[in-house]
Amino acid sequence: MIITIDGPAAAGKGTLSSKLAQKYNLAYFDTGMIYRAVGVDLITKGVNPDDETQALASAQSMTFSKMMDLSKHTDFRSNLGGQAASKVASQTPVRHALLKMQQDFALNPQFENGQKADGVVYDGRDTGTVVCPNADVKIFITASPEVRAMRRHKEFIEKGLDSDYEEVLAQTKERDLRDSTRATAPLKPADDAIIIDTSNLAIEEVFNKVCAIIDSKI
Ligand code: C5P
Repeated sequence: MIITIDGPAAAGKGTLSSKLAQKYNLAYFDTGMIYRAVGVDLITKGVNPDDETQALASAQSMTFSKMMDLSKHTDFRSNLGGQAASKVASQTPVRHALLKMQQDFALNPQFENGQKADGVVYDGRDTGTVVCPNADVKIFITASPEVRAMRRHKEFIEKGLDSDYEEVLAQTKERDLRDSTRATAPLKPADDAIIIDTSNLAIEEVFNKVCAIIDSKI
C-alpha cells in the first residue's frame, strides 16, 4: 500500500506520517530529507544553494547513506537548512535528479533496520502528484501560515534553538511562495487527494480522520 501525505511546511506531515507508518506497518519516507541533504551538503562546502551547477552535482551524487550522514548536521533541521532545501528544490534539474531515488523506494520498501515492508507512507510536497501518482491513498494537509509558524517556533525552542516567531512566520510565507510558484512540481494537492485543514485540529484528531479514510479504502 502506498500512502502520500503532502502539504506545506509545518502542517504536521511528519508526525502524522510516522504514526500512520507505525499503525499500518509501512516504511516511512520523509522526502524533504533529500532536499535538506542537498542543501546542507552545499552549506557545508560553502556553496550558495542558488548555484544550480553545484546543486545538480550534489543531487546527482545523493544516496540514502549520504543523506543519513548529512542528517546529523546541526543545520539539517534548522531554518537555514530549510531555506537551503527550498532553494535547491525550486531547481528543475535537481528535482529530476532526485525523482528516481524517491520512486525506487516504493519498488523495494524497507524499514530503517533494513527489513522488507509491504508499502510506504511518503511525506512531502509532490509525492501524490509526481512521485507516486498511482498511490492508494492521497492526503493533503494544510494549516494557516500563522499556526504553522507557531508550531515550528515552539519546536525550535523545545530543541533549545534560537527562534523569533515573526522571523519564522516570514520564512514560512517565503517558503510557501517558493514551493507553490516553482516551475516544476509546485506545491498543490493532487486532483484525487483528500484535503484536511489542521489549523484547529489536534494531531490525534487528524490521525483519526486519516485512519478512517485509509480503513475505508482497504
Ligand atoms: O518537509 P521539509 O520542510 O523537510 O522540506 C524541506 C524543503 O524541501 C521544502 O521547503 C520544499 O521546498 C522541499 N521539498 C520539496 N518536495 C518534497 C519534499 C520537500 O520540494 N517532496
